[in-house]
Amino acid sequence: MCPGEPGRGSVAGMEQRSLGSAPFTVSAVGLGCNNFGREGTVTETQNGTSAVLHAALDAGVTFLDTADLYGGDWGVSETLMGIALRGHRDEAVLATKFGFTEVATPLDPLGAKGSRAYVRAACEASLQRLQTDRIDLFQQHQPDPSTPIEETVGALHELVGEGKIRSFGVSQFTAEQLVAADAAAASAGAPGIASSQDELSLIARGVEGDGRYATAGRIGAGFLPFFPLANGLFTGKFTRTDMPEDSRIARIRPQIAQNADWDAMEAFQSLCEEWGVTMLEATFGWFLARPGVSSVIAGATKPEQVEANAAAGQWRPSPEQVDAIDALFPA
Ligand SMILES: NC(=O)c1ccc[n+]([C@@H]2O[C@H](COP(=O)([O-])OP(=O)(O)OC[C@H]3O[C@@H](n4cnc5c(N)ncnc54)[C@H](OP(=O)(O)O)[C@@H]3O)[C@@H](O)[C@H]2O)c1
Repeated sequence: MCPGEPGRGSVAGMEQRSLGSAPFTVSAVGLGCNNFGREGTVTETQNGTSAVLHAALDAGVTFLDTADLYGGDWGVSETLMGIALRGHRDEAVLATKFGFTEVATPLDPLGAKGSRAYVRAACEASLQRLQTDRIDLFQQHQPDPSTPIEETVGALHELVGEGKIRSFGVSQFTAEQLVAADAAAASAGAPGIASSQDELSLIARGVEGDGRYATAGRIGAGFLPFFPLANGLFTGKFTRTDMPEDSRIARIRPQIAQNADWDAMEAFQSLCEEWGVTMLEATFGWFLARPGVSSVIAGATKPEQVEANAAAGQWRPSPEQVDAIDALFPA
C-alpha cells in the first residue's frame, strides 16, 4: 500500500491529513523541494538532493512538493527528484506544479499556460522528469488570466480520468478565483479542487485577511502554506545580531532577518523556553493546530533539517498557546 492511501495509519509516527477531495492523505510535515538544484546549496547536486529526500522518507515526511520551474533551470528539481525516487516512488506522495506565468518555458509555443494543450504537455514533461506514471497532485502554479478556468480545470479532470494525475490543485488564486475554479470543477464532474497553496507564515498572514484561507476551507480544499518558516527565519537559528552564513537568508534574502520584528521574535523565543519547546516545534505546532492546513511543506537543505522538522511536527499547542503566538504576530 502506498503512503497516503485511505486507511493507511501513520508513517514512522507521522500524522496523516486529508487533502481536500484527493483520494489519499498527506504527511502533516511535508517537504518543499525548491532547494533541489538551487545554486549555492548542498542540494544543488544529485547527492545532496538524494540525501535530503531519502532522509525525508525515512522520517515519514512523504509529501513532496515541487514544480517544473524549481532548480534554477526549468525541470531541474523534478529531474533530480526522479533519479532520487528510483526504487522509492511508492513511498512518496508527489505534488508538482505547472504554469508559473512570469517565467518563459520551452512549452510556451503550445499556448497560454492554462490552455489544454499546455497543461497536457506540462504533465507529460513532469511525468518524464519525475520518472513516474502518475503525479499525485498537479497544481496550477498561478492563475492564467488569458485562459478560461473551465478549460484548465477540464484538462486537469481529463488527466485524472486517464490516470496521469490523481488530483489537482491551485496556487496563488484569490478567493474569487478559488470559487470560480471550484465551480468549474463541479461543472466538469470533478470532486473539487484538492488544494490551495499560498504564502502563510507567522510574518505573512495576508491570506487570512483577504479571504483566501477561509475560502479554501469553504470549498473543501486543503491549504498548503508556502514559505512556512519564512525562508528559515522561524527555525530559531537567527538572532537580532547573528545570521548563519550558509543560510538562504544570509545568502540571498538578508532583508528577511534585517526587517524582522526582533522584539516579537525574542518574546516568541521566551515563550518557547517557558513551554519547554523549540521555536521550530512552536512554529510547526501553530500551523498544525489548524485543521484546514493539510501539510506544512517546509524546505530543507540538509538531511538533519528535515529530520528536525519531522520531529518538530509532533508537538501541538493548546488553544491558549495558539492565542499567545497570535498575539505576538497578529494576522
Ligand atoms: N506556490 C508557490 O508559488 C510557492 C512559492 C514559494 C515556495 N513554494 C513551496 O513552499 C516550499 C517551502 O518554502 P521554502 O522552502 O522556500 O521556505 P521555508 O520552508 O519557509 O524555509 C525553508 C528553509 O529554511 C531552512 N531550514 C528549514 N528547516 C530547517 C531546520 N530544521 N533548521 C535550520 N534551518 C532550516 C533551510 O534554508 P537554509 O539551510 O538555507 O537556511 C530551508 O531551505 C518550497 O520548497 C516550495 O515547495 C511555493
